[in-house]
Amino acid sequence: MRAVVYNGPRDVTVTEVPDPRIQEPTDVIVRITTTNICGSDLHMYEGRTNVEHGTVLGHENMGVVAEVGPAVTRVRVGDRVSVPFNIACGTCRNCLHGWTSFCLRTNPTPGVDGAAYGYANMGPYPGGQAEALRVPFGDVNLLELPEGTDHENDFTMLSDIFPTGWHGTELAGMAPGDDVAVFGAGPVGLMAAHSALIRGASRVFVVDKEPDRLALADKIGALPVDFSAGDPVEQIMDATLGRGTDCGVEAVGYQAHDPSGDEHPELVLDNLVQVVRSTGGIGVVGVYVPQDPGAATEGAKEGRVAFDYGTFFSKGQHMGTGQAPVMRYNRQLRDLIVAGRAHPSFLVSHELRLDDAADAYAHFDAREDGWTKVLLHPAS
Ligand SMILES: NC(=O)c1ccc[n+]([C@@H]2O[C@H](COP(=O)([O-])OP(=O)(O)OC[C@H]3O[C@@H](n4cnc5c(N)ncnc54)[C@H](O)[C@@H]3O)[C@@H](O)[C@H]2O)c1
Ligand SMILES: [Zn+2]
Ligand SMILES: [Zn+2]
Repeated sequence: MRAVVYNGPRDVTVTEVPDPRIQEPTDVIVRITTTNICGSDLHMYEGRTNVEHGTVLGHENMGVVAEVGPAVTRVRVGDRVSVPFNIACGTCRNCLHGWTSFCLRTNPTPGVDGAAYGYANMGPYPGGQAEALRVPFGDVNLLELPEGTDHENDFTMLSDIFPTGWHGTELAGMAPGDDVAVFGAGPVGLMAAHSALIRGASRVFVVDKEPDRLALADKIGALPVDFSAGDPVEQIMDATLGRGTDCGVEAVGYQAHDPSGDEHPELVLDNLVQVVRSTGGIGVVGVYVPQDPGAATEGAKEGRVAFDYGTFFSKGQHMGTGQAPVMRYNRQLRDLIVAGRAHPSFLVSHELRLDDAADAYAHFDAREDGWTKVLLHPAS
């Protein structure tokens, strides 16, 4: 089959790879109908992880079940399914507590809990930017969708970014009526803003510098804040009469940069500590890594990010972090889509063939105007 393969920094190609096959009795093979490129893929694409050359990328997958292993009893051939990016066993201590993003069994990498498809340090699982995907523990992991093709571009957000954005608001302890600050208007930040509005936020400030992304924030009813036009903390403090927001979401990650493009991994954490009121919560879903050989400072190379912990402590704030446990939210978010209460496809800018992937990576990586979210349709 054809698949998107990582060959090295800024070099991906669509090449022929072996078809996935049932290896364990609990496996399911999914024929991919839609697979998205994620900001998380860009950390690998830019050479800022230790992902192996030859890895098939892609963790935002959906499709139709093509084959099931002999021990699969719930999922059937022909089912339309969303594939959470986490690969969970469903029976370990963390899975049983709803933390499928920290499954104790599926990732053989020493010291790392939680597995994913086509991702650095997340286990030996090929990704789904391909014609087909092997899903371990299929009965546990797959979310059933209404049959047909309705809501395809909404449902494709259920594998990662919609639950991840929602999780950001959950980690932040958001409550109805809150003012919320979301840093990053990439796909994850926009999903966090969409989630906060669905959950009854009063005002949602969304900080970025890319005009097309800020325009989408405005379109869904959030308040865009352009950090290249002035200090975003001051802008939000002014708008909240000096009180700050009730909580905040970090949707940027360790490659946070200033308006000139220079990276400062602590920048957004510092901004959030300043802008969130005392005792407020901060949900960090932007990715930070324990090793970043491409970082600018010695500390950052070892994952040490020197943010303003002193102010964080004196304000009595709290912070939640980590990969989102997709299965905790994806059923409810699917039902919000079906009920017409959630429309996460608003950020889709491009629908392309798998063969267009290399080009799409380059445009999306450059945060080129108008490239907000790319979907690949391997069957087209
Ligand atoms: N925790 C999880 O489960 C999970 C899941 C998916 C993605 N992620 C991570 O979330 C982050 C965002 O993902 P994405 O797909 O939206 O990526 P993206 O790279 O498309 O978006 C990041 C945005 O942050 C903006 N930005 C950079 N510096 C900023 C600053 N100082 N202030 C405000 N905005 C700034 C950029 O302009 C960009 O629009 C990435 O780190 C990604 O790896 C985490
Ligand atoms: Zn993703
Ligand atoms: Zn588990």
